Amino acid sequence: MVATKRIKTYIRGLDEHLQGGIPLGHTVLIAGKPGTMKSSVAYNVLYHNAKEENKSGVYVTLEQSRDSVVDSMAGLGMELDGIDERLSVLDLSMIRKKLKQLSKQSWIEVFKMYVNNLKGSMDVDLLVLDSLPVLQVMAKFEDPRDDLFRFFEWLRELGITSFLIAEMDQDGNKFCAHGEDFLSDGIMHLDLRRDDRVVNLFLSIVKMRKTAHKRGYFPLIFDEGGFEVVTH
Ligand SMILES: Nc1ncnc2c1ncn2[C@@H]1O[C@H](COP(=O)(O)OP(=O)(O)OP(=O)(O)O)[C@@H](O)[C@H]1O
Ligand SMILES: [Mg+2]
Repeated sequence: MVATKRIKTYIRGLDEHLQGGIPLGHTVLIAGKPGTMKSSVAYNVLYHNAKEENKSGVYVTLEQSRDSVVDSMAGLGMELDGIDERLSVLDLSMIRKKLKQLSKQSWIEVFKMYVNNLKGSMDVDLLVLDSLPVLQVMAKFEDPRDDLFRFFEWLRELGITSFLIAEMDQDGNKFCAHGEDFLSDGIMHLDLRRDDRVVNLFLSIVKMRKTAHKRGYFPLIFDEGGFEVVTH
């Protein structure tokens, strides 16, 4: 049997529990409530893969500006300087403005055109979409289930390993609204839990196709050494 090629998450302690990382070409949801470090965890994968593995990544932000993303990630020690040829941060919220000039094309068609053009001009190994619910609002999906099915198929056909950020409601337990959890190949769940006055962040691999992984919620720590999960 040929071993599955994998993308490292560069979260210490996690890759060993994923048989080395996330299978190449997977579409993975990163789900969590507000402020659970979804964007930081996704950026961390692109950042370290650009730096250590020479892999190219595109981080598409739809609600936070490019400057805000780049600045907050630099604040976490992930500076763009020196790797900006392999890590592009794109604010595509402006497609909305461009659309007005682009006749009848739908938002999602324009989005796909951007990604296809990027793929033509550079190798894109990894893609982050921050966030999937915002894409759904912007794209005005008529039949979300069917449209999302097609969108996931399109991502798979591109052969890019993608991370889609799913925003969970503060008071709900659903990862997403339209069955994206079934469509995706993997789900990482970030969860803040309160123990009296102490709030800790936990990470769980809810699913990861083609991978034997531990279930359970592991403390996720961020310090000067980056992200680490405690699995013992
Ligand atoms: N150095 C740090 N160490 C630990 N946690 C931090 C540090 N810096 C920021 N944070 C936490 O990370 C949060 C922001 O992370 P991030 O933007 O990745 O979260 P998010 O889940 O994407 O948020 P949102 O729901 O707003 O999109 C901050 O609100 C803060 O609580
Ligand atoms: Mg975010």
